[in-house]
Amino acid sequence: MKILFIGDVVGKPGMRMLSRIIPEYGKNNDYDLICINGENSAGGFGITKKGALKLKKYGCDVITTGNHIIDREEELAGVFMIENVIRPINYEPSFPGKGWTTIEKENIKIVIVNLQGTVFMPEKPKTLPPFKVIQERIEELREITPFIIVDIHAEATAEKIAMRYFLDGKVSAIIGTHTHVQTSDETVTKKGTAYITDVGMTGSFDSILGMQAEPIIRKFLGKEDERFKLAKMDVRMNAVEIEIDEKNGKAYSIRRLQVADDT
Ligand SMILES: [Fe+2]
Ligand SMILES: [Fe+2]
Repeated sequence: MKILFIGDVVGKPGMRMLSRIIPEYGKNNDYDLICINGENSAGGFGITKKGALKLKKYGCDVITTGNHIIDREEELAGVFMIENVIRPINYEPSFPGKGWTTIEKENIKIVIVNLQGTVFMPEKPKTLPPFKVIQERIEELREITPFIIVDIHAEATAEKIAMRYFLDGKVSAIIGTHTHVQTSDETVTKKGTAYITDVGMTGSFDSILGMQAEPIIRKFLGKEDERFKLAKMDVRMNAVEIEIDEKNGKAYSIRRLQVADDT
């Protein structure tokens, strides 16, 4: 089973690239499952119902998210009405949406879980300790299927690597999101868990994490009311391809992708 996990898509430049590339993957039957982090799909800040439906239409099966979804609080109810759009499982229980989903592909049930770290992360949405929350839930999820993909949406490298050790052998893959910078530490553990600290982003690479550099630099220089603007040049897609043994849910390969937009 071959899975594509795409890094945080940042605004229109990223969305436009995906509107061309994902249907191609579909036509060629390249992947059994496509997951994407969509927390920045709406102009870099949050996700809308319309944007989530677009990603589904292009061919993304599952959309994970993270902290930026509260930038468009008014959209949350609509976004989480859509099937297989999830938010971190460790947000406080009253937060809209759910933290995991099950999808069936090639007669195999796959669970996708979204988790968020707490180290160097914003206070909102209120996030419960990810290790405790997943510890309480993991056996219940493993009863459904051994095919489990975790999106760990977190800033701190150590917190993500700790999650790799914590869930080693219990899940098929642990994919880091949120920093927008792809790391080169992808690995498959001896127990069959694929891992990368961060899968990267899909958007403009002539930018600071998808946004124009100048306003961000002005903000660092002390200009408080600076508004960030979406960058448009040098669009690329960052993703990982994960191969999982259909007999037992163990991963046997993970490969980084960085695809340039050819238009
Ligand atoms: Fe992000
Ligand atoms: Fe984030």
